[in-house]
Amino acid sequence: MKKRILFVCLGNICRSPAAEGILRSMVENEGVQERFEIDSAGTYGGHRGQLPDPRMRSAAARRGYALTHHARQVSEEDFDHFDLIVAMDDMNYETLHRLAPSREAAGKICRMVEFCSRFPDRTYVPDPYYEGHEGFELVLDMLEDGCRGILERLTTEE
Ligand code: 4NP
Repeated sequence: MKKRILFVCLGNICRSPAAEGILRSMVENEGVQERFEIDSAGTYGGHRGQLPDPRMRSAAARRGYALTHHARQVSEEDFDHFDLIVAMDDMNYETLHRLAPSREAAGKICRMVEFCSRFPDRTYVPDPYYEGHEGFELVLDMLEDGCRGILERLTTEE
């Protein structure tokens, strides 16, 4: 069965579309893309339809990731469709819990940092929107670490 993973941040223009692009690239490199469905969404819908922030697109492109997602807001159907719903920070995590239509749906929500091994002191992936270049590089480092962790977890579960 396909594993369906949804990354969620606030605007769906920085962190979650980057996580989507990174995990997609990792599964393609390992030739296991048929076993995964990967998407992203925001808890806030104000950037709906937009490509990721140009600063995130260029930082990601320097690492070889092309980010082509168009922003969308998370919906109730996402809780049925996806197996794992990965929140970037505490606010996203709490909003997702408020939106979850059932206890089973709420059980699918987790935090990106749970899958990170190189950032033991971080409890969330920081919002880079109002930060400089370093913010984007830190976020990408954390997302690469977390996506590797997700892939390892999901491929050893089978
Ligand atoms: P993201 O970053 O949640 O990683 O996509 C943000 C994007 C937009 C806003 C905040 C964070 N905003 O306030 O519009």
